[in-house]
Amino acid sequence: MPTEYGQDPPLSYNKYLKVRELIELQETLSDPASHDELLFIVIHQTYELWFKQILHELDATIKWINEDRVFRANHSLRGVVSIERILVTQIHILESMAPIGFLEFRDKLNPASGFQSMQFRELEFASGAKDEKILSTFSDDQFASERLSKRFGEPSLADAFWGLISRQGLAAESFDERVKATVEILTHPEKYAEIYNMQDLLIEHDELIVSWRYNHIQMVERMLGMKRGTGGSDGVGYLMTTLSKKFFPELWEARTHLRIDQ
Ligand code: HEM
Repeated sequence: MPTEYGQDPPLSYNKYLKVRELIELQETLSDPASHDELLFIVIHQTYELWFKQILHELDATIKWINEDRVFRANHSLRGVVSIERILVTQIHILESMAPIGFLEFRDKLNPASGFQSMQFRELEFASGAKDEKILSTFSDDQFASERLSKRFGEPSLADAFWGLISRQGLAAESFDERVKATVEILTHPEKYAEIYNMQDLLIEHDELIVSWRYNHIQMVERMLGMKRGTGGSDGVGYLMTTLSKKFFPELWEARTHLRIDQ
């Protein structure tokens, strides 16, 4: 009886990675297929795969931090920021699409939008930016709603980090205490070596997501100008408001208070 990958075949690259299934997952809505729709689908699916890997590392990081395994947690965080550096630049590939080519199939996407990316919202929630309003927009999607509700109720990376700081003997309950604790760590890098490295990786995670948002906005404006989004927002205007989202505002605020003579 032939199996999907031949007559009882040994393990192969294609079999292990399910390449056949993978390359069948790009179903265009335009018919006949508009040339650029394949790129549009491939890039979104690629992002979703990387989001999956980032979530895997963030979950592990939270676990390691809770076990006070700071070195191990930093290792996973380094993996997260390495992926994010790629995600920030990857968005530019879409700019190779002619705006008129995008318009050929754009109307077919209505009312779907990146706004509904479950895994991007999981990344935000897991990092520390939880938003009940965003959670409620998934009420029609049971699968996404369940995953997001679970993350909404679980301690985030930010919660885990500030818990770790408290266990180091630094007060970290209120915003001001967290800023003060960060100033202390930034003032004495060698005394807090691994924790110092961690805050550096966390602020980089924050910075890279903002960089991604910014590059996405530029790309959207280049494609659409000020047209409304397929998700129903006013497009670029809405996206600009998301630039101020931060997972670790205290780490940023601390830089303002840092002085050489502390
Ligand atoms: C031509 C390509 C793209 C266009 C024109 C576009 C346009 C937009 C627009 C207008 C919004 C605002 C919501 C709306 O009203 O729809 C949005 C949100 C979003 N898009 Fe894209 N997008 C594109 C590609 C991508 C890609 C490749 C990703 C990768 C995952 C992505 C992820 C997101 C996310 C996560 C949001 C929500 C941002 C937030 O609310 O903070 N988009 N997009």
